[in-house]
Amino acid sequence: MTVTSKSVSTRLLNSSARHSYDPDVDVDWDLPFEPDKWFMAPQRMSLFGTPMWESLSEDQRIELSRHEVASIVHMGWWFEVLLMQGLLREIYQSDPRSARTQYALTEIGDETRHSTMFGRVLAKGDLPRYGPPRQLQRVGTLFNLVIRGASLYAGALLVEETQDRWQREIMHDERIQPLTRMVARIHVTEEARHVTFARDELARVMPTMSRAERTWHQAIAAQMAIVSMRCLVHPRVYASVGLDPREAHEVAVNNPHYRASIAWTGEKVMPFLMEQGLVAKPHLGIWQKSFLLPQPPKGKVSTTS
Ligand SMILES: [Fe+2]
Ligand SMILES: [Fe+2]
Repeated sequence: MTVTSKSVSTRLLNSSARHSYDPDVDVDWDLPFEPDKWFMAPQRMSLFGTPMWESLSEDQRIELSRHEVASIVHMGWWFEVLLMQGLLREIYQSDPRSARTQYALTEIGDETRHSTMFGRVLAKGDLPRYGPPRQLQRVGTLFNLVIRGASLYAGALLVEETQDRWQREIMHDERIQPLTRMVARIHVTEEARHVTFARDELARVMPTMSRAERTWHQAIAAQMAIVSMRCLVHPRVYASVGLDPREAHEVAVNNPHYRASIAWTGEKVMPFLMEQGLVAKPHLGIWQKSFLLPQPPKGKVSTTS
């Protein structure tokens, strides 16, 4: 371990001791959902700006925001569960005395509280269970066994930094449900430390890898980008407002506003991943299909990948 990563972990441990939340007591779970408030920012929704969006009434758009946020929160929950397992494996043979090991355990502690908080939000909203498609759940089980080191931290950053941008906007938007904003605020505060840790770990391991290892992690990172961005909104959410899921999903993935929104969430993490050498030329097509790269691919994008 480098001196830098040791001091980063120590600093993060001190910050965790000073600023941590317990959603059981720090969230006002009695806050009612207000009928005229959004569950996420409308301009970030997958159909925003399309003729299909224009065909919906304001009430339908708000109802769709309830389902779309439920799908995104469930995916966030799933990614956190994968990350916790990855972090536990990372420290399996580590020195328990080190600040790095202790911070990794502290982060797992944060994530268990977050995942419980997300589950509680979904239950309170009485929302259907979306989450990853069954096929992706199976792939996730396999991924879980191979994601280590650079891939683990790149995956963490892909989810945490993009969600950070999305949630910072939510917490300042008074059109959005107070409960959603409160949950976003708690998550943003604790995730900032996770981002610092993952960036530090990634910067530490990248220069130590062989060419073959680098190629492997580049390929895994590209796959994680497409999965984490393209599976956020389950097609079934569209049925909640009477839209055909397949047709609406097709409209969403070809919606330039939605592609631009995804690219906007990636504006901070992408330059860092490129700088670290995780975005390789052979995978540029996959990165573009994830919409994280600012230049959108020409023509229609297949909904099958
Ligand atoms: Fe989290
Ligand atoms: Fe996190």
